[in-house]
Amino acid sequence: MAQEVRGVIAPGKDEPVRIETIVVPDPGPGEAVVRVQACGVCHTDLHYKQGGISDDFPFLLGHEAAGVVESVGAGVTDVAPGDFVILNWRAVCGKCRACLRGRPWYCFDTHNAEQKMTLAATGQELSPALGIGAFAEKTLVAAGQCTKVDPAVAPQVAGLLGCGVMAGIGAALNTGQVGRGDTVAVIGCGGVGDAAIAGSYLAGAAKVIAVDIDDRKLETARTMGATHTVNSRETDPVEAIRELTGGFGADVVIEAVGRPETYRQAFYARDLAGTVVLVGVPTPEMKLELPLLDVFGRGGALKSSWYGDCLPSRDFPMLIDLHLQGRLDLGKFVTETIRLDEVETAFARMHSGDVLRSVVVL
Ligand code: APR
Ligand code: ZN
Ligand code: ZN
Repeated sequence: MAQEVRGVIAPGKDEPVRIETIVVPDPGPGEAVVRVQACGVCHTDLHYKQGGISDDFPFLLGHEAAGVVESVGAGVTDVAPGDFVILNWRAVCGKCRACLRGRPWYCFDTHNAEQKMTLAATGQELSPALGIGAFAEKTLVAAGQCTKVDPAVAPQVAGLLGCGVMAGIGAALNTGQVGRGDTVAVIGCGGVGDAAIAGSYLAGAAKVIAVDIDDRKLETARTMGATHTVNSRETDPVEAIRELTGGFGADVVIEAVGRPETYRQAFYARDLAGTVVLVGVPTPEMKLELPLLDVFGRGGALKSSWYGDCLPSRDFPMLIDLHLQGRLDLGKFVTETIRLDEVETAFARMHSGDVLRSVVVL
């Protein structure tokens, strides 16, 4: 039987979000219905609301979520009712060239649930944000979007791995391959940069240099594991990073802003043969000009990181275990827990600079 639950809808471009009754169908083949327990408020939800991602209104917002599987459809064997899971953006095929080469984050054939959730009042189909739609008491997803983790973790902490925190930690661990003794610089210390700092600390980096234009962000960065901080409004970050690394530059520089000037800083702040990881998302019109001779002469690797290059089934349980063991404090990323009807005000607070993550707890 389809069920009616409450969910946060973005009805149209730039219109305030509102709570509506939505209809969640029974899971079809390969699908699961999840009782959402927590869902973080991410910039991407705001971009959906502003019409910056697609015109497919109305959206069911929320995509950084954890909860308990309520029911599964035919053929689902990897998860079962009662499992505590973290949701990810899309199920991968496991068969395409990208999947077979161990890079499922570039899978050519990803999918979400086939059936649609609808607005109870009008029957209109909903577009779930990033194929999830978890600012709702229950949501319908592809079973492959669910990853089982240890249920001892608080749901508001677990959900964070579904997006921004995984992107940052993965940029350090998976894309940057930060190793013990490395020097790392992270440019931009929002939620993603802070997670990259936490990931670098976890990997045993000898120095983790945090760069931002806001001193408050640098203070938080220290609590995440930054050993040094640079305010790039006051100090040239390239010079500062070189100075802090014996004149060489950092082994790995992670750019978590998404702008040409910060990418340029990252490029020149790395050691010869070092790695630059771009995790900040640029806009389509942004361009970067670099002397090709510098690209050639400095060697190393220029990488970008997509969803932290994560394998959910490998990385989610591992990071939750590390958190439960006290070796990685994911709880630091949760600034506040809020109710479903406070999402709009959480959007407003997001830009104040005081909030890393507001997390809806259901
Ligand atoms: N130099 C250094 N830091 C900067 C600069 C700059 N020129 N401009 C902005 N910042 C800092 C901000 O002060 C802030 O602390 O970058 C940080 C950006 O943080 P958020 O806006 O909270 O963004 P976040 O969620 O961390 O995401 C960062 O990664 O995944 C992507 O789409 C995401 O592009 C975004 C980026
Ligand atoms: Zn694939
Ligand atoms: Zn997100």
